[in-house]
Amino acid sequence: MKNFILHNPTKIIFGKDVVSDFLWKEIAALSARNILLVYGKGSIKKNGIYQQIMEILEDKSINLYEYSGIKANPIVEDVNHVVAEHKEKSIDLVLAVGGGSVIDSAKIIAAALATNENDAWNFFTGKQKIGASLPLFAVLTVAATGTEMNPLAVLQNEKAMQKLGVRSSKIYPTLSFLDPSYTFSVPIPQTMYGIVDIIAHALENFFAMGNAQLSDAFALSIIKESMEIAPLLQKSPQDYDLRARVMYAATNALNNLCSYGKERGNWEAHSIGHVLSLLYDIAHGASLSIAFPAWMKMNTQAYPEHFQFLAENFCLENGNEAVVEYFEAFFKKIGVPLRLSDINLGKEEKQKILSTLSKDSRLAKNYSKVELERLFDLMLGE
Ligand code: NZQ
Ligand code: ZN
Repeated sequence: MKNFILHNPTKIIFGKDVVSDFLWKEIAALSARNILLVYGKGSIKKNGIYQQIMEILEDKSINLYEYSGIKANPIVEDVNHVVAEHKEKSIDLVLAVGGGSVIDSAKIIAAALATNENDAWNFFTGKQKIGASLPLFAVLTVAATGTEMNPLAVLQNEKAMQKLGVRSSKIYPTLSFLDPSYTFSVPIPQTMYGIVDIIAHALENFFAMGNAQLSDAFALSIIKESMEIAPLLQKSPQDYDLRARVMYAATNALNNLCSYGKERGNWEAHSIGHVLSLLYDIAHGASLSIAFPAWMKMNTQAYPEHFQFLAENFCLENGNEAVVEYFEAFFKKIGVPLRLSDINLGKEEKQKILSTLSKDSRLAKNYSKVELERLFDLMLGE
């Protein structure tokens, strides 16, 4: 087992009504006065979460600033805009209410405000280190990314045509509220994309080198849990226990629980998915259900022991092939796209996709031009 440091500073408050019960107490404990509320394109107004938060904050002696309009697959241009608008406001708490897109944007807004950074893209290119951040509270509304308890943020830059992640211990949320009932309104397709994302995180952590059997067992349990819940949730989207189970799985799939004691995981499927989201603005999970099977087919020889472990634990005969087929069959069953044609893309996209794949530093380092072409063909289903 590899040496590791376990220090996750995010406090999680999990369960029904936790926002009504704890949000104001926690804000008061921080003595926050100038609060910046960040949210997305309007789902929180439709499902009543916004109104609930407004009721909690009304009549309190605070200045509440709002930014709405963070898009799914969020862009750094929006983040820079929010920072410019609020840098003179002495913000002392950022309150993010939404899914991964909103929380990731809020993480970077909090860091840019704390460090007077006008162009947050500098954090992603490595030009600037994240040296500090404002406190960040997150109210999670989609179970998927794990951002609620991790030090990562992912943004796109439309001009540079890149989707990049940044990791910094400064951007763990201070506190995340996880009320599973807040996810009742997530449409079933989006819920399934979340489940694909959870499985991808567990798998990518698992496809790391090194022996840490308990970390692998956590990953395997999260995958099995997600596979069991998905079809049940399709039938009963308002089932609190199912929503709670998937939310807890999502948080633990990417808060390092599945990687302590191992090398860094293999995140190439995410890099491929980010290219698809960048070019076609498809949901993160939908990009992964296309990328992952192709990545697996390319890598069966590189990870024989990992495939054998999965085959044994899912009771599959015929080794590698059966493992890939097993995950493909599951993705098909839950109705997420498996091939580029499922999102109406064909051969004509080849040059565009290949040239963007080859600009990704991780993929460019690990794959030759011919291998990237093979990857594209596999995503086409050829
Ligand atoms: O914008 P609104 O109106 O809020 O609608 C959102 C959005 O359209 C909607 N939604 C959210 N909560 C809802 C809801 N609709 C109904 N009821 C609710 N309760 O869902 C749509 C998708 O939201 P989004 O935040 O984009 O989804 P997700 O949580 O999957 O986040 C995806 C983003 O996170 C990044 C992805 O790349 C992508 O940009 N990731 C972040 C990671 C991290 N920080 O650790 C790791 C991941 O691998 C991932 O890369
Ligand atoms: Zn992901």
